[in-house]
Amino acid sequence: MQSAIEMKAITKKYGELIAVDNISISVKEGEIFGLLGPNGAGKSTILKMLCGLIEPSSGQILIRNLDLKKYQKRIKRIIGVVFENQNLYENLSGFYNLYLFAQLYGLPQPKQSAENMLKLMKLEDRANENVYKYSKGMKQKLLIGRALIHDPEVLFLDEPTVGLDPQTDQFVRRLISNLNNRGKTIFITTHYLDEAEILCNRIAILHHGKITASGSTEQLCSEASLENLYRVCFSARINPKQFSSFSVLENESCDVLTFNKVSTDIVSFIGSLNDIIKESGVEIKTIEKVRPSLQEAFMKIIGERHNEEYFVLNTKRN
Ligand SMILES: Nc1ncnc2c1ncn2[C@@H]1O[C@H](COP(=O)(O)OP(=O)(O)OP(=O)(O)O)[C@@H](O)[C@H]1O
Ligand SMILES: [Mg+2]
Repeated sequence: MQSAIEMKAITKKYGELIAVDNISISVKEGEIFGLLGPNGAGKSTILKMLCGLIEPSSGQILIRNLDLKKYQKRIKRIIGVVFENQNLYENLSGFYNLYLFAQLYGLPQPKQSAENMLKLMKLEDRANENVYKYSKGMKQKLLIGRALIHDPEVLFLDEPTVGLDPQTDQFVRRLISNLNNRGKTIFITTHYLDEAEILCNRIAILHHGKITASGSTEQLCSEASLENLYRVCFSARINPKQFSSFSVLENESCDVLTFNKVSTDIVSFIGSLNDIIKESGVEIKTIEKVRPSLQEAFMKIIGERHNEEYFVLNTKRN
């Protein structure tokens, strides 16, 4: 399968600052690729370079085998872009915002295209109101609709669900999934591990402009050597150091611990835990076998490679 997006040894410098440091990424046609990383990691900078909004200091970008430097105009017609601080025409209606872009792209039936897009985005009831009256979620849906108006093959989305209520969040995630099912290639940046896990075929973690780890959730879990995980909830805070004979993962709180590579059956495992905690007055409340998640894989990989907790990445699950 041919690559939809190819970044070859891309570096971006702002004066002394190396915002993106010699990164190569290849995204296949029909993939959803997720770029995860904390604030300032370089996610938006990469996206802006991929869309041709800013130029790399060095390296080459190909979109569907076309060199971005040479074929900017052609590439603009096959990509759709959503950035956080993009502008809409606030004093025009939602309909007109889409209609103008439909005309700009020279679509044969701009009015029809704008109306269809408003329906897809569930904005048809507010179509004739000026955009300054729209809520944040409505504006975001309109921005996504605008990016989709010319039916692009490749979509670039910069944190598309930030600040959305759960319902709109779900709507946008489902839309991304549906677009992908129709064959669109999607490059998305996000802070949300669960979003990346649900949506993306492959993920790269960016840290200070460099890729720390990349692959599918399964590959990252295997890279982090996560297997036979058990999550144990205790009746009170507990010191993880007591369990030095086990492999204990970094956990959110001190009364819940996740044990990795548990090699015995559950009854023997509970027995061993009880032997350790019997003096402390703390009891086991619940115990469950859990599937390794991106969250655990990241915490482990980042913890090992950077010797720090990756607390800056969030999940909407909790
Ligand atoms: N125009 C610019 N001039 C100078 N430095 C910049 C410019 N744009 C970005 N940077 C710097 O480049 C680095 C990467 O920024 P970028 O916006 O790509 O991060 P990000 O991963 O998208 O962060 P966030 O999660 O906050 O959106 C940061 O240190 C930022 O300050
Ligand atoms: Mg950003």
